[in-house]
Amino acid sequence: MPTSSQQSRLVIDYRNTMNSVVSEEHGISDTDLDDIGDKVRQHHDRLQSEHTAGEQKWMDLPDDTALADEIVAFVDEVREQYQDFILIGIGGSSLGAIATIQALAHPYRNLLPDGKRGGPRIFILDNPDPEKVAATLDTVDLSKTLVNVVTKSGQTAETMANFLVVRDALIEAVGEEQAKKQIVATTDPESGLLRQLADQEGYRTFPVPPGVDGRQTVLSAVGMIPAAIAGIDIHQLLAGAAAMRDRATSGDVRSNPAYLLAAISWIADSRHRKSMLVTMPYADALFGVSDWFRQLWAESLGKKLSVDNEVVYAGQTPIKALGAIDQHSQIQLYTEGPNDKLIQLIAVGDYRDQVDIPTPPESIPDLAYLDGGELGSLIDKERMATAWALAKADRPNLTITTPVIDAFAIGEFFYLMELQTVMAGALYDVDPFGQPGVEAGKNATYALMGQARYDELREELESRPGDAETYLNAP
Ligand code: PA5
Repeated sequence: MPTSSQQSRLVIDYRNTMNSVVSEEHGISDTDLDDIGDKVRQHHDRLQSEHTAGEQKWMDLPDDTALADEIVAFVDEVREQYQDFILIGIGGSSLGAIATIQALAHPYRNLLPDGKRGGPRIFILDNPDPEKVAATLDTVDLSKTLVNVVTKSGQTAETMANFLVVRDALIEAVGEEQAKKQIVATTDPESGLLRQLADQEGYRTFPVPPGVDGRQTVLSAVGMIPAAIAGIDIHQLLAGAAAMRDRATSGDVRSNPAYLLAAISWIADSRHRKSMLVTMPYADALFGVSDWFRQLWAESLGKKLSVDNEVVYAGQTPIKALGAIDQHSQIQLYTEGPNDKLIQLIAVGDYRDQVDIPTPPESIPDLAYLDGGELGSLIDKERMATAWALAKADRPNLTITTPVIDAFAIGEFFYLMELQTVMAGALYDVDPFGQPGVEAGKNATYALMGQARYDELREELESRPGDAETYLNAP
């Protein structure tokens, strides 16, 4: 694997997870970490050899700079041509793009004047919510809209339904031939219904990499096209991921940041009953990263069967929170409610803007403590205060600090959290890939919507026990 010329910069402080700080009952011990060391090393060796054998393909995504070049060239062509861009996709086909754009683009990008914004306004259609879809179609100028439909399987009901609605509106607005030119499909290079349609209609297509689960495709065309449309330096995203990959090569649980985080979570859950993992950045821009991670952790670890097919009902429930807002919503529960959570805070060294707090009126002396203050320093002190208060109440917490929020750091977070999740899967003894529980719901939706292949399942669904009259009409 090529190595990165830049160094990873994230810093992990896990002191507040240790028994010396949050008590024997709730904190992990050095012995816990020693005990898990061999298992981590064995799984590290297995992952390495699987990767050498051509599996674990997600690990290679940071190297595909040729794809990034192709995307940049494509986006250079279309960026000034279109006023609006609609991304249609759900789950792993949209959360990475949302996280990247939220982290790295102006928070009110769509409201900026054309010259200042650079590139089209961006709209995301993930939910098949008729109100949001209708409102989006009301807002965009379809004659100047580029549509990017993203689905790995090529058949997800929400995505395909939203796409058919938008495609129809586009055809009505610009005609059939022009509509085809305004659609870009990101999907499996060979199979799936969207692939068939794209080939029939001649859409421009980009690949969802085969052998990579949707939730790990953020560093492929899935995440990089929307990011590049937003003006984000996608090569720096890849460089950050590659730098984290270089840093995370050790099989030693304490030296490899991803393995350390996986081990802390697993020990906290299995030895100290921390069945929930809260991710709480102290930056609005990083809230999307905790949402992306929430899906990654939930779908990868939430498994009924172990790798040996034993029923284990594994998983740690991921929760997203936002500092400092959730100090006024969730922290009461986290500090005094059930001690069942591990909390990972994300800190930012230097915020991209500095906003000084003006001198408060002398007539209100109790506000004098804000004099000379700055908002970034306030929010960061709140983060420190929260970490301290949680620890004082024996609530294990750790802090990941990024010196700044930039594309490189976001790439680092993506790779770190993906490897953390894969190692956590190994520690839970489950296969972190695939999502049979999601597929069950997807198939039930196809059945309820009348897809012929699912007739038998529809009959099963319709013959649910119980008197429908009683339950459907309950007051
Ligand atoms: O991680 C996954 O594979 C899933 O969460 C998918 O991303 C999600 O279900 C959407 O699937 P698709 O991209 O096939 O439309």
